[in-house]
Amino acid sequence: MAMCFTFRLAILLTLLLTSLADMDDVGFIYNGFLSANLSLDGIAKLTSCGLLKLTNETGRYEKGGAFYPHLINFKNSTNRSVSSFSTTFVFAIISESQAFGGHGIAFAISPTRGHPEAVPYEYLGLFNESNNGNGTNHVIAIELDTVQSDNFNDINNNHVGIDINGLNSTYSFPAGYYKDGSRQFRNLSMIDGKRIQIWVEYHGREKRMDVTLAPSGVSKPKTPLLSSPLDLSSIVNSEMYVGFSSSTGALISSHYVLGWSFKMNGQAQELTLSRLPKLPRLGPKKKSRLLTNGLPLVLASVILAGVSSVVYFVRRKRKFAEIVEDWELEYGPHRFKFKDLYVATKGFKDKELLGAGGFGRVYKGVLPTTKLEVAVKRVSRESKQGMKEFIAEIVSIGRLRHRNLVQLLGYCRRQGELLLVYDYMPNGSLDKYLYNQPKLTLNWSQRFRVIKGVASGLFYLHEEWEQVVIHRDVKASNILLDSGLNGRLGDFGLARLYDHGTEPQTTHVVGTVGYLAPELTRTGEATPCTDVFAFGAFLLEVACGRRPISQSSTDVILVDWVYSCWRKGDILEAKDPNLGSDCVAEEVELILKLGLICSQSEPEARPTMRHIVQFLEGDIPFPRMSSLRLSSGIAFSHRTGFDEFAMLYTSSLNNKFSHSSSAEASLLSGGL
Ligand SMILES: Nc1ncnc2c1ncn2[C@@H]1O[C@H](COP(=O)(O)OP(=O)(O)OP(=O)(O)O)[C@@H](O)[C@H]1O
Ligand SMILES: *[C@@H]1O[C@H](CO)[C@@H](O)[C@H](O)[C@H]1NC(C)=O
Ligand SMILES: *[C@@H]1O[C@H](CO)[C@@H](O)[C@H](O)[C@H]1NC(C)=O
Ligand SMILES: *[C@@H]1O[C@H](CO)[C@@H](O)[C@H](O)[C@H]1NC(C)=O
Ligand SMILES: *[C@@H]1O[C@H](CO)[C@@H](O)[C@H](O)[C@H]1NC(C)=O
Ligand SMILES: *[C@@H]1O[C@H](CO)[C@@H](O)[C@H](O)[C@H]1NC(C)=O
Ligand SMILES: *[C@@H]1O[C@H](CO)[C@@H](O)[C@H](O)[C@H]1NC(C)=O
Ligand SMILES: *[C@@H]1O[C@H](CO)[C@@H](O)[C@H](O)[C@H]1NC(C)=O
Ligand SMILES: *[C@@H]1O[C@H](CO)[C@@H](O)[C@H](O)[C@H]1NC(C)=O
Repeated sequence: MAMCFTFRLAILLTLLLTSLADMDDVGFIYNGFLSANLSLDGIAKLTSCGLLKLTNETGRYEKGGAFYPHLINFKNSTNRSVSSFSTTFVFAIISESQAFGGHGIAFAISPTRGHPEAVPYEYLGLFNESNNGNGTNHVIAIELDTVQSDNFNDINNNHVGIDINGLNSTYSFPAGYYKDGSRQFRNLSMIDGKRIQIWVEYHGREKRMDVTLAPSGVSKPKTPLLSSPLDLSSIVNSEMYVGFSSSTGALISSHYVLGWSFKMNGQAQELTLSRLPKLPRLGPKKKSRLLTNGLPLVLASVILAGVSSVVYFVRRKRKFAEIVEDWELEYGPHRFKFKDLYVATKGFKDKELLGAGGFGRVYKGVLPTTKLEVAVKRVSRESKQGMKEFIAEIVSIGRLRHRNLVQLLGYCRRQGELLLVYDYMPNGSLDKYLYNQPKLTLNWSQRFRVIKGVASGLFYLHEEWEQVVIHRDVKASNILLDSGLNGRLGDFGLARLYDHGTEPQTTHVVGTVGYLAPELTRTGEATPCTDVFAFGAFLLEVACGRRPISQSSTDVILVDWVYSCWRKGDILEAKDPNLGSDCVAEEVELILKLGLICSQSEPEARPTMRHIVQFLEGDIPFPRMSSLRLSSGIAFSHRTGFDEFAMLYTSSLNNKFSHSSSAEASLLSGGL
């Protein structure tokens, strides 16, 4: 009996030990992912032919992840040191234009099988703004990054990096490989759709990480691309998941993994390249039969075509000429080809015209490569001076990202004009829904949501981004509505960056009458307070359904009228009659009063956008206006301010001043 028991115990122990050893030495290989059991996240899919497709060609601002479903033991169970491991996989990044695309793929070792709280674009679906770089993440990633993100000090837009707990790579190097024998470095462009194999090896004893890249089919180069000292002991937990994460931004790529092999404590088994699934073909199929059957005919037509195409190209070259200067090359990804924009807008046809503003006409377009709907703004006339600063500004504006801003995708520059490319907003601008007996109006809850959205967008510009950005032209016609009827601030053409602490040297006042703070007309200096003033005018506009300065003979100045209603004790009299009865009286009252306090002539008396957001969210109670009035002497001395307006107003032809010529001169003079 006793013997039997010890025997059983022995069996149990050996079973336990072998299973422990098994756990230490996990290994798996996927030559294609047909019937693979991976834990998928985001928009990642396994295709019917066995490709792991992390992101697809239509998903913008998406993330996709795939993880091996079981935990893997990374630490030696006896002495807790991090064990060696090795992995290899074949990937391909396909972006239709082969020049733009984003953002990349990361191989990740992580405590979780997915990162639901992470964000896409440059965060690769692994981290978010608040946890990037935080030691509590316990994430190691090998990034294959195709976009240069300044906020992570990226070295270029085609690099491999070792990331510890965040996207500021600990080590990185341009993608490429050292060809065996010659020791010569060859660049590899990761975005051009070719299959590339990567090997990642961690040597536990030496505490070193090697990363090696090569075009698929080239055997593993002896010299790694990165061979970096790295002690993972404080970074990996004993048990971790391994997998991939990928993301897209404004620019899209399809990110594929074709095969993957992993081994703990040993060399990952080599992939059988011939068994890997095929990538989808790019572009139309080649017609090979024609060549063999009708070679002479083809030759003749080739010559003919050659001659005519020379003529064609010379003409075309003139038509699509654009200016690129050396200093612009570094802004590569944000620069569009004029030809693409020309094709996108069907040659800037009048049919595609969305509207015309002070700075030029805006056309709708569909980008030929990505099928992305865009709005292209053609700003005519160009002053060469200050162009560099201005473009730098555009590029940095393009990095602003917020759900309540119209995303600027890029620009294009030609002789005599500048084209700005924005996200297309299917529901147009807000002013169309407000005044002049609109065909469609918004109900109160829609308006309130638009207001909250715009407030949070403006708050982001003022306080949440790395620099203070002043919009300078907040008004209903610059608020665009996206497909979900969310308000988005548009038209950053006028926004000027205004660094913390530096004095702006503005020479021209830019803006629209009715939204200009009185001190702006005196000093010409735009500040966050002047934006708040304009925002106040916008609030009153939305609540009352009228322009700040109406063009008819009566109630010339909206703020005066609302103020007088409030004085009479019935501020709600001012609300838009189109709103009917379904509105929330407290909210309308809040907006009207907020509109008034933003319209105070003393800049210091106006609330900041942070306060406004808090008022709107109900986080802080709205101050009683009477007390406010007493303490700050809210006397609406805008009388003086508005007298200046009235003068300007009558002296300008349309309802703007400093328009086209001078506004644009200031826009392009780059006098930051
Ligand atoms: N991203 C966009 N998506 C859809 N429509 C747009 C977009 N941007 C502009 N538009 C349309 O084009 C019109 C003109 O825009 P634009 O910003 O040039 O003029 P504005 O705002 O009236 O004047 P200003 O140039 O002084 O700001 C807008 O009223 C809007 O209807
Ligand atoms: C896939 O893995 C998950 C997680 O371990 C498991 O629950 C599931 O049963 C597996 N499915 C198959 C088909 O093996
Ligand atoms: C891309 O993924 C999204 C989300 O899964 C899906 O809605 C869309 O149809 C996909 N597009 C293509 C072309 O597969
Ligand atoms: C774990 O560490 C012990 C002690 O150093 C060693 O004997 C053993 O081989 C290690 N196990 C593995 C799987 O490396
Ligand atoms: C970032 O992710 C962490 C967890 O990974 C989460 O706790 C946090 O709320 C997220 N932050 C934001 C701003 O989403
Ligand atoms: C990443 O680099 C940027 C740019 O230098 C820096 O501002 C940021 O603080 C860094 N983040 C971390 C987590 O190191
Ligand atoms: C890191 O994350 C932890 C937990 O999420 C948090 O408590 C801590 O404040 C973060 N540290 C930094 C520097 O953000
Ligand atoms: C590789 O690319 C870098 C920068 O992208 C460039 O400076 C270098 O000349 C390229 N080398 C080769 C061999 O093409
Ligand atoms: C643990 O064991 C490994 C493998 O035997 C060895 O290389 C390492 O130095 C040991 N670490 C410690 C802290 O003893």
